Amino acid sequence: MASFTIFGNGNMAQAIDKVLSAGGAAVNHIGHDEVGKAAISGDVVVLAVPYPAVDGIIASYGKQLVGKVVVDITNPLNFQTFDELVVPVGSSAAVEIQKMLPESHVLKAFNTTFAATLATGKVGENTTTVLVAGDDADAKSILIEAVKAGGLEAIDAGALKRAHELEALGFLQLTLAASEKIGWTGGFAVVR
Ligand SMILES: NC(=O)c1ccc[n+]([C@@H]2O[C@H](COP(=O)([O-])OP(=O)(O)OC[C@H]3O[C@@H](n4cnc5c(N)ncnc54)[C@H](OP(=O)(O)O)[C@@H]3O)[C@@H](O)[C@H]2O)c1
Repeated sequence: MASFTIFGNGNMAQAIDKVLSAGGAAVNHIGHDEVGKAAISGDVVVLAVPYPAVDGIIASYGKQLVGKVVVDITNPLNFQTFDELVVPVGSSAAVEIQKMLPESHVLKAFNTTFAATLATGKVGENTTTVLVAGDDADAKSILIEAVKAGGLEAIDAGALKRAHELEALGFLQLTLAASEKIGWTGGFAVVR
């Protein structure tokens, strides 16, 4: 089982830790105040931070991230307008992160599942499904197996360019919850 270092201690960091730990993975965290001080020990690194925080983490840890699987979970929303994503049109946060980390295996995952649905393992009556996009098949397998071991469903959603669609889905889900049309414990479910 792979080991994981999660940047962040917030809602998503804790919910993802719960899933991975339930599956038997070793998980540690690097909190905001530890950035630049604590070393990465995991094989897989999860960026459970706001999108604007990613640049600073890469600036501090670029060399340590070489060869690692890096999981981007962000929804790169413009939090001033709540009406657009801040990444270039047609791109995605994950693709932009891959450009900054050409020697890492970047995955997009967890951005379409609210923290509550990771923690409970349910979206309504359905088991929560984590959609995973990325260009490295082995990296995707490591994450998918770890999520399934933790009791959730996980699906390979295709190449990293599918992060564009995953971020669109995550954005839409956020706007629905922010406008109280759905709850933060709900959201999109996947039925096979
Ligand atoms: N919440 C959800 O349901 C959900 C669903 C899908 C995707 N996401 C995405 O998941 C990410 C985390 O969301 P969240 O809800 O877990 O947020 P959160 O509860 O606010 O937690 C954010 C974490 O990031 C840390 N952080 C903030 N700025 C940082 C920086 N410059 N450098 C290092 N660490 C920093 C925070 O530390 P401090 O508190 O000490 O500043 C905190 O530990 C976001 O990108 C969000 O778009 C969230």
